[in-house]
Amino acid sequence: MKSVLILGATSDIAQAVAKKYAAEGWSLTLAARDTVALEPIAADLKIRADAEVKAVQFDATDFENHAAFYESLSPKPDAVICVFGYMGDQESVRSDFGEVKKTIDVNYTGAVSILNIVANDFEQRESGAIAGISSVAGDRGRQSNYIYGSAKAGFTAYLSGLRNRLAKKGVHVMTVKPGFCRTKMTEKLELPAALTAEPEQVAAAVFSGMKKQRNVVYTLWMWRYIMLIIRHIPEFIFKKMDM
Ligand SMILES: NC(=O)c1ccc[n+]([C@@H]2O[C@H](COP(=O)([O-])OP(=O)(O)OC[C@H]3O[C@@H](n4cnc5c(N)ncnc54)[C@H](OP(=O)(O)O)[C@@H]3O)[C@@H](O)[C@H]2O)c1
Repeated sequence: MKSVLILGATSDIAQAVAKKYAAEGWSLTLAARDTVALEPIAADLKIRADAEVKAVQFDATDFENHAAFYESLSPKPDAVICVFGYMGDQESVRSDFGEVKKTIDVNYTGAVSILNIVANDFEQRESGAIAGISSVAGDRGRQSNYIYGSAKAGFTAYLSGLRNRLAKKGVHVMTVKPGFCRTKMTEKLELPAALTAEPEQVAAAVFSGMKKQRNVVYTLWMWRYIMLIIRHIPEFIFKKMDM
């Protein structure tokens, strides 16, 4: 039975991803900083999907312990899905460097720290698959969330480089760029229904993208074209727009 490690497993998207992998017969290692919140999620998957599920503690910003965390996993995963992320309030981020640092530490440094360790293992084993949940926010910096967006842009570039490095070793690396998705992270935002995915839609796209060895997946699909247009708006016009 193949096993998947889901990092940030209390996230709404991660829970939907876990359900999808469990339904497809994978065994799961769910990793999150809040193991108390993780327990009912793991129990539910065991009962509903009759899945093999382990729950482990993991903090994306506890960089020094990432190697020991990965070392402790037995067996080592066949696939790793990096889902955790943090988006604070853009207004407070402007005047609070603690919030800036947290945004970068979780979305970029934490992801790079743990995935470097995973990548070295997969490279040596010459097998494995990695998916990172980045964001369309990383495709172009906008005044409304460029701190979060710049951390995700860094993560997107990292995943691109990792894909380029590991392809020669038979290791697949996929970048997932959700547009809007209805989760805890966006519960205070008014989202346009036609452009907003449910976590289950993102999960289905992650599973099928990994199966088909896609490089970059947008969810919903139309975000690929929306971002294509946004990326090509000339800077002299873009800087005057309210985005
Ligand atoms: N929702 C959207 O519209 C949207 C759009 C584009 C990209 N994304 C990305 O999708 C991913 C999943 O987010 P979501 O929408 O499902 O939101 P969510 O439910 O709020 O999930 C965010 C998760 O990140 C975890 N996390 C935060 N800091 C962490 C840390 N230091 N160590 C470990 N875990 C940490 C949180 O854990 P706790 O439960 O412990 O707080 C939570 O489980 C994120 O990477 C997000 O940036 C979301």
